[in-house]
Amino acid sequence: MKAVEKLTSVEAAKELDRLAKQIAEADRKYHGEDAPDISDADYDALRRRNAGIEARFPLLVRPDSPSHRVGAKASARFAKVTHRVPMLSLDNAFSDEDVGDFLGRVRRFLGLKDDEAVIVTAEPKIDGLSASLRYEHGVLVQGATRGDGQEGEDITANLRTIGDIPLRLKGKPPAVLEVRGEVYMTHKAFAALNERQAAEGKPTYANPRNSAAGSVRQLDPAITASRALNFFAYTWGEITELPAKTQSGMLEKFRDYGFIVNPLVKRCETLEEILQFYRDMESRRARLGYDIDGVVYKVDSLALQERLGFVSRSPRWATAHKFPAEQAQTVIEAIEIQVGRTGKLAPVARLKPVTVGGVVVSNATLHNEDQIERLDARIGDTVLIQRAGDVIPQIVQVLTDKRPKTSKPYKFPDRCPICHSHAVREVDEKTGKMDVDRRCTGGLICDAQTVERLKYFVARDGFDIEGLGGTMIELFHEKGLLKEPADIFALTEKPEKVSKVLAEHRAALSEERRAAEGKEPSKTSGKTKKKGEDREDKVVENLMAAIERRRTISLDRLVNALGIRHVGETTARLLARHYRSIGHLLDGMKAENMREELESIDGIGGVVAEAIHDFFAEPHNVKALDRLLQWLTVEDMAAPAKSSPVSGKTVVFTGTLEKMTRAEAKARAESLGAKVSGSVSAKTDIVVAGPGAGSKLKDAQKHGVEVMDEDAWLKLIA
Ligand code: IVH
Repeated sequence: MKAVEKLTSVEAAKELDRLAKQIAEADRKYHGEDAPDISDADYDALRRRNAGIEARFPLLVRPDSPSHRVGAKASARFAKVTHRVPMLSLDNAFSDEDVGDFLGRVRRFLGLKDDEAVIVTAEPKIDGLSASLRYEHGVLVQGATRGDGQEGEDITANLRTIGDIPLRLKGKPPAVLEVRGEVYMTHKAFAALNERQAAEGKPTYANPRNSAAGSVRQLDPAITASRALNFFAYTWGEITELPAKTQSGMLEKFRDYGFIVNPLVKRCETLEEILQFYRDMESRRARLGYDIDGVVYKVDSLALQERLGFVSRSPRWATAHKFPAEQAQTVIEAIEIQVGRTGKLAPVARLKPVTVGGVVVSNATLHNEDQIERLDARIGDTVLIQRAGDVIPQIVQVLTDKRPKTSKPYKFPDRCPICHSHAVREVDEKTGKMDVDRRCTGGLICDAQTVERLKYFVARDGFDIEGLGGTMIELFHEKGLLKEPADIFALTEKPEKVSKVLAEHRAALSEERRAAEGKEPSKTSGKTKKKGEDREDKVVENLMAAIERRRTISLDRLVNALGIRHVGETTARLLARHYRSIGHLLDGMKAENMREELESIDGIGGVVAEAIHDFFAEPHNVKALDRLLQWLTVEDMAAPAKSSPVSGKTVVFTGTLEKMTRAEAKARAESLGAKVSGSVSAKTDIVVAGPGAGSKLKDAQKHGVEVMDEDAWLKLIA
């Protein structure tokens, strides 16, 4: 291929024409038929070549150029955007009491007196999908979805088509401004769209939120443009300077810049006023013309917001007060027991499908044995179910007057339905209480647990191995190729075996299909066999490459993927930030004071520390991790805020602090990369001592640790 620099304009035009066709064809295959015929790498190469030529010959950019289109519904084709400031979620309040607690927490954290008012803004919680819009010098340069909060998808071209989103800002916005808000569809637009879809024989959407989400994630921005979407601005990400000092002031500025801000936002000074706003919204909800699923309260002062900071993934300065869930009636057709990766037996009610709040529901969780007993839920029962947001629907009540006469109470199994080992409810030694969950005791011999652990390992928040989904894990496990995480990487050494398993699986499937259609078994013709093999080769090749790519992994993803009980994405990140490298982490797990050290991490409590301890105390876990690590390069975790003078230092606060509460001091220090510990040892770097400091001050002197007062500390971190 000729280098882009050497192309003549005639050659460039010809090639752009060819590339447009080739990429469109690949997109069509990928999205329309779900059967890509070129690898992702080759596809990316085509796009890069196209972009390279266009950059050199801007006048030749075609109206149908692939660069006008971004990805499509399959997220693999959207470019990833790392949010410079993470897109957080909100803590939820479900009752008036929860809201009171929220305000109480804010007060306590800030050390405010009961009579000191906390002003909050109350805003409708729009039920759409959040988007982040990046403006540089007032010009929209990038638009992204929230994704997992850290990394979203680049949907700039689609967002540009939304009328409420200004392409250029008015007034004097900050040089860099990321405005965040909600893309949503009005009830009217939703109804019209579904009518149109139905008339064209296309699938309809379940609710306005799904249709808004589906619309912004279209292959072709022209389709997004044809959908009536709206946008409310309500917060921001990266910003070079704050143009206001309050949330309400910021919204005012957003209006000046040309955004639509929800006109119902209100500043409230008391709990009563806040709750009044909530009830007002609840009663007006049906007439608003767009879906809201609650109200969001935010501390108005940005200075206070800054002091309040965050707990794991949500701000301490905001909460979402949700409207009650929507309910419906249906019948339990069966109760099934699923076995999870920790061996938990989870009962699921299979329901006669019913629509709740615009979504068809056919399963509901029954949580555990006690819950079934409490409800006295039986097969054949008519039940009231409810669904709130994205959570799994729940059974709220059994309508016993509709119960069939023949029904019998449900008997919870005491054996694992998969491996038939005993399933038991453990008794907590300390409290003497019985665990709510019954667990399979089969451990490593339980296929359900093995498979679920492997699925968890490759899932999106873990190793995220493209092409290795649940079905494939089940298949490879069944065929003896997979037992533990290291085996996944060992697959790359036996592509022929993988190919064979897949080919057999495909053949079995097609025989099944033929049998179902009442046809004779096929005498596979040479030609179709060849075609199938080619496809398999491609799949295997892509899979091997995807596995190979994940041999380098960040520490937090690795820790999350291990599937330690009580350790999810957030805790994994805390651990990774604390230990920084796999070496330190493993050393820490062997150390005598491991539990104390774990509990010194903000956000990790006794139960979690115990679970981590138990995991590493189990020799087979350590061995399996060892075998896995032979395949991996684990990336160290970067220290947050490297430039801070206290990052990496261990700090102990003692005595009375006068300018901030203990919680605030701790959170602030940690956000600057310091470790806050409860006791002084030779490893302590700084002791911040207020009036009344006692034994810890003495310990500091004993170990020769630097001691400073609160003012000196504040000066240091200013
Ligand atoms: S503020 C750090 N304000 O609710 C604060 N969110 O559960 C970030 N949402 O992901 C969000 N209306 O999609 C905020 N007025 C509002 C909102 C709102 C809807 C959504 C948003 C967010 C989710 C949080």
